[in-house]
Amino acid sequence: MKFADLLIHSASTMVTMEGHSGSPARGEKMSEVGLREDGAVAMREGAIVAVGTTEEVLAGGWVGPETRRISAQGKVVSPGFVDPHTHVIYAGSRENELSLKLKGVPYLEILKQGGGILSTVRSTKQATDEEIKAQTRRRLQTMLSLGTTTVEVKSGYGLTLDEEMRALRLIKELDSEQVIDLVPTFMGAHAVPSGYSEEEFTNYIIADVLPQIAARNLAEFCDVFCEPGIFSVHSSERILSKAKQLNFRLKIHADELDAAGGAELAAKLGVTSADHLLQASDGGIAALAEQGVIAVLLPATSFNLAKNSYARARDMISAGVPVALATDSNPGSSPTESMPLVLTLACLYLRLTPEEALTAATINAAHAIGRADEVGSIEVGKQGDVLILDIPNLNYLPYHFGNNPVGTVIKRGKVVWNVNPLNGTS
Ligand code: NIG
Ligand code: FE
Repeated sequence: MKFADLLIHSASTMVTMEGHSGSPARGEKMSEVGLREDGAVAMREGAIVAVGTTEEVLAGGWVGPETRRISAQGKVVSPGFVDPHTHVIYAGSRENELSLKLKGVPYLEILKQGGGILSTVRSTKQATDEEIKAQTRRRLQTMLSLGTTTVEVKSGYGLTLDEEMRALRLIKELDSEQVIDLVPTFMGAHAVPSGYSEEEFTNYIIADVLPQIAARNLAEFCDVFCEPGIFSVHSSERILSKAKQLNFRLKIHADELDAAGGAELAAKLGVTSADHLLQASDGGIAALAEQGVIAVLLPATSFNLAKNSYARARDMISAGVPVALATDSNPGSSPTESMPLVLTLACLYLRLTPEEALTAATINAAHAIGRADEVGSIEVGKQGDVLILDIPNLNYLPYHFGNNPVGTVIKRGKVVWNVNPLNGTS
């Protein structure tokens, strides 16, 4: 028998998320996190080969002289975080919008004046490939240090065929050049550029852009910013229906700022996830539950828009909607890379329990990007994406906020980040 490369043992608490890989956890199942005391996990050639108590894993014969051992005594071990909704591929920043926001100028008003998303479109267009990659790599490194091991990335700061293709190509390059796994989403319908009406730009995306992205296999998902004044339910349906014909899986930014029937459209089209959903109606929530659409909730965006308005996560969970969490990392509505911050906000303002929040940030998030067979739980056969959290118990994770709870990040069975590089990891 071949020995494991790496053993993590003696965890006070190991959160495995076992049993949810077939379908996302809903309702009370979101609280079933597969806790093991004195937990251990062994990995070999990037994959998990044994899970159990320390005694069980040691007795299983996987641990030999060449196995590196890391003690997680007094600590919590969990699957790597999966961030299923980000816009991290761009150049520039928009700190100038903070003062406008503080003066009360609405988010969509800033966009109407040519700022917001359109300002990032300009700064990204002006940047070289290397500049965009260097800035994005830095954000991904921050994410990794905060425990995120898989990230969905949307295009949408291009808004022309060439610029959208460039963003998706750079996502592919970054995927192979750095540690975090990236899942690409085409989101050309992110804003309407000047010179186009909504209908003209919708026609352009459908006729000229989507078929080219599909032919080059540049993205797995297609997403649309469905919001009155951006893309109506009608335009969103046209774009997503075309994307479905071209074999994209679907996502939708729905009912974020106004209730417009985005959740209902999400259910009708059978999207994989509907995201934001702050203003989703009761009927919309029931329809998402009925169709098994995952609600990706983004409490850092609510927090940063500073409107004291959060998604009705408790109603969604009671209705049976599977809930996932993400950062929405972007330069306007959510300039953060931190899943730990999202977990805290989810507990305080979405009223999730720590168990529900962790389910939402791992296995349900993996389902939201079609990766639940590979990541999101600590189970034999899955990728060795594991965190050692420097906290005494699970409740401590959302409780102590604004800092980094992550001690060690393991990606595909290898230590890729450690809080104390000089002091090793044992
Ligand atoms: O998800 N809602 C649209 N897109 C982003 C914001 C992007 C930006 O402001 O640059 C979001 O919130
Ligand atoms: Fe977004």
